[in-house]
Amino acid sequence: MKVVDVLVLGAGAAGMMCAAIAGQRGRSVLVLDHADAPGKKIRISGGGRCNFTNLNTAPGAFLSGNPKFAISALRRYPPSRFIALVERYGIAYHEKTLGQLFCDGSAQQIIDMLLAEMKAAGAELRLGVSVDAVDRIETGFAVRIGGERIEARSLVVATGGKSIPKMGATGLAYALAAQFDVPVTETRPALVPLTFETGMLETIRPLAGIGVDSEIACGKVKFREALLFTHRGLSGPAVLQISSYWREGEALSINMAPDTDVPAWLAEMRVRHGGQSVVAALSGLLPRRLAETIGQMAKVSGRLADLNKGDQQRLIDHIVRWRVKPVGSEGYRTAEVTLGGIDTAALDSSDMQVKACPGLYFIGEAVDVTGWLGGYNFQWAWASAWAAGQVA
Ligand code: FDA
Repeated sequence: MKVVDVLVLGAGAAGMMCAAIAGQRGRSVLVLDHADAPGKKIRISGGGRCNFTNLNTAPGAFLSGNPKFAISALRRYPPSRFIALVERYGIAYHEKTLGQLFCDGSAQQIIDMLLAEMKAAGAELRLGVSVDAVDRIETGFAVRIGGERIEARSLVVATGGKSIPKMGATGLAYALAAQFDVPVTETRPALVPLTFETGMLETIRPLAGIGVDSEIACGKVKFREALLFTHRGLSGPAVLQISSYWREGEALSINMAPDTDVPAWLAEMRVRHGGQSVVAALSGLLPRRLAETIGQMAKVSGRLADLNKGDQQRLIDHIVRWRVKPVGSEGYRTAEVTLGGIDTAALDSSDMQVKACPGLYFIGEAVDVTGWLGGYNFQWAWASAWAAGQVA
């Protein structure tokens, strides 16, 4: 039997960070993961360069049943602290856009940094092990892996959410929550491409691969980022962002020329180039194939000069207020994160400890705190891990 102060389940972003912080406080720490390598999601994140934080981190960039829950952890461990760590390891980075910081080299540098921090703090890592059972004991928790029993005063659950099962995601955090009577809010795939029904797909399938700058809205929530047409529907940063807010049955409103006053543009084009075809004119504003499809959807063709008021309005509406109703999403197979999770009402926001079960902690993606696209989710992983690592 092995006895440690802190047992961390999951060697992802949050688990490794928490292990290093607790170890630095002199705690004996063991991290268990069923995967054959640590930080697999870090490795593929940000196209292999890991968008490890966002300079604009603020509570408004996170979705949660309690929007105030994340404030304490994010304030105490802001992006500047993670950036200082990255700089201490000499990892070169750059701001890509919208405050998003990426490694210049490879995401593996972030994994190596976390492993080095763990090693320096004396934290042990065991890979390729499955947790068979977890029990509450007088001194804390007992975990069975194979024939071995490990006892720990604190148990930190950092096994992530349901997104991308191929990368090792399991429902362990939710199963442990159920075992210890910790409520879990409804979970759903987020930061995920959205899909269309067959009729709409027939119309937009020829557009697969085309990207445009866009402003996309779902109710009152709006994002201004790139949109990408796919074989199944829509993707790209704008769509991934809005997917966290969209619900089945709701329509999206998409402006595909957000920098142009389209009614004024159309009026001027009609005066100056009235003999031009609608598609030729629109091709000056949007990719040609998209211009053709918009013409078809708006049922507008022929010369600009021949458009009546109704034609013009339909054309404008399809460019700046294109209303589409996705039927669903690509699901956990491609979702970057899981929306929902361990109910924050059950956790102490200062250290992520379960109020009704001292010594048990949930951190990272397992918790009902979900960031926007752009480094916010890693920042939550670091901050929640740091908060738990201070006391576990
Ligand atoms: P994470 O999922 O990272 O780690 C959980 C660990 O627990 C894994 O190592 C897993 O193997 C282990 N585990 C699970 N079940 C277990 C079990 N039953 N027994 C033992 N171990 C178990 N975010 C961001 O901020 N910037 C970015 O650039 C990206 N890019 C990105 C790209 C892609 C393709 C994806 C899928 C996701 C992103 N993200 C992102 C999101 C980011 O990866 C995510 O928010 C964090 O990895 C969450 O960290 P956690 O440590 O909570 O879970």
